[in-house]
Amino acid sequence: MTATITIRPEGIDDHAAIREVVTAAFGSAAEADLVDRIRASPEYVPSGSLVAVADSGADGGADGQGEVVVGHVMISGATLELSQGGVRPIVMLSPLAVRPDRQRDGIGGSLVRAAVAAADALDEPFVVLEGAPAYYSRFGFAPAAAHGITLPLPHWAPPEAAQLHRLRHDDASLTGRVVYPAAFDGLG
Ligand SMILES: CC(C)(COP(=O)(O)OP(=O)(O)OC[C@H]1O[C@@H](n2cnc3c(N)ncnc32)[C@H](O)[C@@H]1OP(=O)(O)O)[C@@H](O)C(=O)NCCC(=O)NCCS
Repeated sequence: MTATITIRPEGIDDHAAIREVVTAAFGSAAEADLVDRIRASPEYVPSGSLVAVADSGADGGADGQGEVVVGHVMISGATLELSQGGVRPIVMLSPLAVRPDRQRDGIGGSLVRAAVAAADALDEPFVVLEGAPAYYSRFGFAPAAAHGITLPLPHWAPPEAAQLHRLRHDDASLTGRVVYPAAFDGLG
């Protein structure tokens, strides 16, 4: 039986299930801790923190609500240090997680598209992220360097891992260096 997947903003009742899904997807609690730190920070964007929920038909929703969280994505705030001087707030996408037994079924893609749409609805110029170009290019992400924007990548990541998705209010004059907020301190 195939479960129906719905993407919606997270609620307080989802927090524990999100921790489980993010920990299972990444194989450690580091990213789940990151989600909690972002949520507790000024950079939290409630309309950009989304869950993918499956109806209980195929997943046996144990929460009594007929649905179970199978994926999560977060859009949250970061700072762009502008090339011409000054700073402005922007948004980034991180992290993205799908429960291991539900991967390769389009849920990650649905979450990315919904997160991008949430950022567009906030009239943001673009969304940045650090991730595999082979995955995110499917959803309209392209190298951030082509937009004149750099991200603080870990030493092991190739430059193309810095990705950007232009939105309706994109402005080519917005170039510079992305600075992650304190919630990301210490993450590899
Ligand atoms: C990345 C992730 C969210 C994708 O979720 P998903 O629901 O499986 O994604 P989709 O079904 O939309 O897409 C699956 C496709 O993406 C591909 N893919 C997944 N991760 C990829 C990666 N890092 N690089 C390239 N392709 C990747 C899969 O091979 C699959 O390819 P196929 O369509 O040719 O079979 C999921 O694998 C996951 O939670 N991984 C662990 C956490 C993680 O790495 N998150 C991303 C970094 S923040």
